Amino acid sequence: MSALRLGVLVSGSGSNLQAILDKCASGELPAAVTVVVSDKADAFALERAARARVSAVHINRKDFESAASFNEEIARILIEHGVELVIMAGYMRLLGKEVLDAFPNRVFNLHPALLPSFPGAHGIVDALDFGVKVTGVTVHFASDVFDDGPIILQEAVPVNDDDNEESLAARIHAAEHCVLPQAIKLFAEGRLAIEGRRVRVLPEKDKSVIP
Ligand code: GAR
Repeated sequence: MSALRLGVLVSGSGSNLQAILDKCASGELPAAVTVVVSDKADAFALERAARARVSAVHINRKDFESAASFNEEIARILIEHGVELVIMAGYMRLLGKEVLDAFPNRVFNLHPALLPSFPGAHGIVDALDFGVKVTGVTVHFASDVFDDGPIILQEAVPVNDDDNEESLAARIHAAEHCVLPQAIKLFAEGRLAIEGRRVRVLPEKDKSVIP
């Protein structure tokens, strides 16, 4: 199986990017990150990409007249790098239809809560403040609605009585670092079948490729 070419969109620390890079390097993931795109110049994720000798691109929304032209440029960069699957790993903007149309059913988003609960930019603290006993992580196909789209994998993370934002975030991130690569592996193996809002995980022997 040839390595699936990944383009990773980031805005911050890039710990999930690192988990992907590590699992690609160890051979656990039949994939390779070919480009990392950040909308923030100071994102540590860019440094992680550079250390792994992966193309790292900063693209500033302010340099573009419209959201459409900004997203067209992101799509162009991803296509230029031969990307087959796009991963939003802590990318904190709504992805434009220019990218979604260029990669139909080929964009994953990662969210630090059990969607549809606690969408948005503060999923961890919103769940903690609400007082839920269980939260978790979600990987889903991205759509033109924020934190929406068919769910691929979810993992529950219990909230402990003595949790604060930091302790809960540490366990959420640890779960993300396993669940996101797991979802990428299923895609690489052609085992994800989208049926309306539902995503069926095909058994290993019954592989098929998403159209
Ligand atoms: C992750 O927890 C991810 O789920 C979250 O940003 C963090 C990025 O961490 N994304 C969202 O909240 C999107 N709604 P990282 O930069 O260390 O990978």
